[in-house]
Amino acid sequence: MKILLLGSGGREHAFAQHLSKSPNCERLYIAPGNGGTGVCGENVALGVEDFPAIASFCLAQGIDMVVPASEAPLVAGIYDYFLADERLSSIAVIGPSKAAAQLEGSKAFAKAFMERNAIPTAGYREFTVAELAEGKRYLEGQQLPIVLKADGLAAGKGVVICASVEEAKQEMEEMLASAKFGAAGSKVVVEDFLKGIECSVFVLTDGENYRLLPTAKDYKRIGEGDTGLNTGGMGAVSPVPFADEKFMEIVNRTIIKPTIEGLRKEGLVYKGFIYFGLMKVGDTPYVIEYNCRMGDPETEAVLPRITSDLVTEFEKVAAGSLETKPLEVCAEGAVTIVLASKGYPEHFEKEKLISVGSIPAGGFVFHAGTKLSDGNLLSSGGRVMMVTSLDKDLREALRKSNALAQVVDFENKYYRRDIGVDLGIGEG
Ligand code: AMP
Ligand code: GLY
Repeated sequence: MKILLLGSGGREHAFAQHLSKSPNCERLYIAPGNGGTGVCGENVALGVEDFPAIASFCLAQGIDMVVPASEAPLVAGIYDYFLADERLSSIAVIGPSKAAAQLEGSKAFAKAFMERNAIPTAGYREFTVAELAEGKRYLEGQQLPIVLKADGLAAGKGVVICASVEEAKQEMEEMLASAKFGAAGSKVVVEDFLKGIECSVFVLTDGENYRLLPTAKDYKRIGEGDTGLNTGGMGAVSPVPFADEKFMEIVNRTIIKPTIEGLRKEGLVYKGFIYFGLMKVGDTPYVIEYNCRMGDPETEAVLPRITSDLVTEFEKVAAGSLETKPLEVCAEGAVTIVLASKGYPEHFEKEKLISVGSIPAGGFVFHAGTKLSDGNLLSSGGRVMMVTSLDKDLREALRKSNALAQVVDFENKYYRRDIGVDLGIGEG
């Protein structure tokens, strides 16, 4: 198989490492990749949404499979683009069709899908700019806090949790009337607040069957103790200790199966990963969000644990012959810590020289916002690198990852020292 992986983050480096080790991977290209992915394959300077350029490259290189790891190309319809062109239609694209990718691309679509398929989620209403006055009246009758969500993709910033009705009204006005999030906010979803603990569940599906991946917990806030601004994610732990067999039975029965069945019934073609962002309220899981790809940094914790050959699994996804059992996983758990630039997630420093010391066995250093420049490794993004350690004991994995965070050095490196503390695996 000649494979083209699309993306440039730590998730993509983790995928690149995993795919490149497969005996079924003849060649791996990563577009555009980062300062680390070039070790696993060949970086190619292509934009992930430049479908004509991606298509030309695939034809010129005889690519068999495209793996879009981030949401942008999937929501923009790369699956359909390849299917519609007879020169490209035999190339497998691992992901949902454009229609199915709306599960991530439109919160209103996802909410209506869950309602139609009786999948547990927070109660909601949606409003457009023409309904602003009605929306504000609706807010007056809501319990606090109030959750407002811009309908479309807003780079992880489109969810605002408001402590007062006044704040919610102002936020709604900014989203709808002042286009705070651009077109993504042309519709706003108002959702009931769910109080509980979050956990991410992932499956790989061919549209009929699905294989479960290990669970993970993400740490979204920049500050320790889950404080400060939302980020892309500052760390991850896999598996999630509270996501035990009993909980996963409920998740499978009330969420995953109805989702796969709903997609099939509604003719929404889906051949890729589904990410279920869940909130556990008491013993009951609710869907907070769907994503149409794997998470970042959850992938950096989950993939090092998977021993199944993903290239073979992707071939089965494309052929529609996936098995139903969970993917094979090693006995060890993983803790991932994100090393970020000073200032992230707002304006952050770049162009810092990075040094990476020797990586112990069972340790992984994934590049995210890095680039190679005249033989030097420099920071180029807010999340610079992710370190992951495996161990049978999650506490030990955390200790190793904290040590591994010292192996990577760049000026003003920032990372959270409390990853896993809420799960009882850290010192606090
Ligand atoms: P999302 O971008 O949908 O993942 O939302 C970002 C974060 O907002 C989630 O990770 C949750 O922490 C929080 N959130 C979203 N929806 C709700 C909700 N209905 N109740 C409580 N928290 C929420
Ligand atoms: N870590 C959250 C996400 O990938 O959406």
